[in-house]
Amino acid sequence: MGVERICCIGAGYVGGPTCSVIAHKCPEVTVTVVDLSQSRIDAWNSPDFKLPIYEPSLKDVVMQCRGKNLFFSTDIDKGIREADLIFISVNTPTKTFGLGKGRAADLKYIEAAARRIANVAGGDKIVVEKSTVPVRAAESIQRILSANTKPGSNFQVLSNPEFLAEGSAVSDLLKPDRVLIGGEDSRYGHKAQDDLAWVYQHWVPKDKIIKTNTWSSELSKLAANAFLAQRISSINAMSAVCEATGADVAEVAHAIGTDSRIGNKFLQASLGFGGSCFQKDVLNLVYLCEALNLPEVAAYWQQVIDMNDFQRRRFANKIIGCLFNTVTDKKIAILGFAFKKDTGDTRESSAIYIAKYLMEEGARIQIYDPQVEHQQMISELSDPNISENPDRVKKLVSIFDDPYEALKGTHAFVICTEWDEFKDYDYQRIYSSMLKPAFAFDGRRLLNHNKLMEMGFHVETVGKKTVMNGMFPIAS
Ligand code: NAI
Repeated sequence: MGVERICCIGAGYVGGPTCSVIAHKCPEVTVTVVDLSQSRIDAWNSPDFKLPIYEPSLKDVVMQCRGKNLFFSTDIDKGIREADLIFISVNTPTKTFGLGKGRAADLKYIEAAARRIANVAGGDKIVVEKSTVPVRAAESIQRILSANTKPGSNFQVLSNPEFLAEGSAVSDLLKPDRVLIGGEDSRYGHKAQDDLAWVYQHWVPKDKIIKTNTWSSELSKLAANAFLAQRISSINAMSAVCEATGADVAEVAHAIGTDSRIGNKFLQASLGFGGSCFQKDVLNLVYLCEALNLPEVAAYWQQVIDMNDFQRRRFANKIIGCLFNTVTDKKIAILGFAFKKDTGDTRESSAIYIAKYLMEEGARIQIYDPQVEHQQMISELSDPNISENPDRVKKLVSIFDDPYEALKGTHAFVICTEWDEFKDYDYQRIYSSMLKPAFAFDGRRLLNHNKLMEMGFHVETVGKKTVMNGMFPIAS
């Protein structure tokens, strides 16, 4: 097999961990991860391994390979020139302006990477689309490459979407449910698929490597995220029915999850999904369906997003309702700002939206998160889509390094991320330090609600009516 050198364009949440694991499992292959961002590359190269992203076990993997067969660099051209196989792992955010604004994927970074490959590469290269893209993006990459190819150069474009989940990226990469490789149905296409499969076969069983045509591979990534997001919206829709009726969504989830056709994963009701992918990819699918003149299909998937927005809004309204319909100048602690536990990623985090709705009512927000940098939280909340006036964020938001300090003197706390450490706090101490009545809003169903109620907390959660002293609480 001919893969000796791999280059990955994009040293983010996908490119960094994926290539670290490839380098770890393929010691005879040299892997170089390149990025435009000097600060990101500096962090990957930092002497004390203070990596730019937090993922359990990632540091150990990088420590074992960096400087041996794993390199991080801003010399993109050199990385491209030397590689046999190039992953494009750049960001594909939702467009914020122009045609498809708010829905279509912005492919400008993909296009820039493809043009750069075409400009500097010579000889035979396999170009692998690792970023999540709309169906037929590989065709655009192939056209850009073909139209700019130097004499003697040949490119085969593959689709190899990434299915890792943040927070468990390394273990997902080490033990993937499947690896999907889409390619052109030709002798050269099959050869390129086999070359990439050879890389993964260093640690992934052959029967877990699925080869398809390019379009099936691209669509499968969007479909997988749409199905996963739909499950969360489905159980969250049920949580609203539970709160209105007295059913408990955990019991409903358990009861339906025992049906092997449904399965028990991804049935945890919550404040809704966040992260850089679910919303972006479902919106991308909606846009694609509209472009394909399939409005009914587009509306079906759009509802998954609408339900997610509804769930966040509903929870914020519950907080305001319970706090006697006014939160103006009240101090509310937000525990957890990352979009899920075990990551420092805050993109589309539900905490942002809960903070937004509470800030709109004039609440004073005190935030604690074990991983997220202060500046990152301020920058998310100062985004014009979240807060019209950044001065208001400065006035209303305080960020703490110590959870007990964040909770002191507050009227309420809201669990927005399911960090394990939140389960072990001294809630008796917290109760004593809060104003009374002290409210606990558990948006992740993480805490022991009976214990909290025994201490005197008024507890509210998702998908369950809380009963206090035999009475339902004020608002539900
Ligand atoms: P990211 O934003 O963390 O990283 C992308 C990196 O690409 C940035 O560091 C950026 O500076 C760099 N970049 C952009 N254009 C470049 C160029 N022309 N040359 C060199 N570097 C360039 O993004 P992330 O989260 O790693 O996502 C990458 C892709 O993978 C996206 O399409 C995303 O949808 C997909 N994906 C993300 C997953 C996740 O959990 N974050 C999971 C599965 C897929």
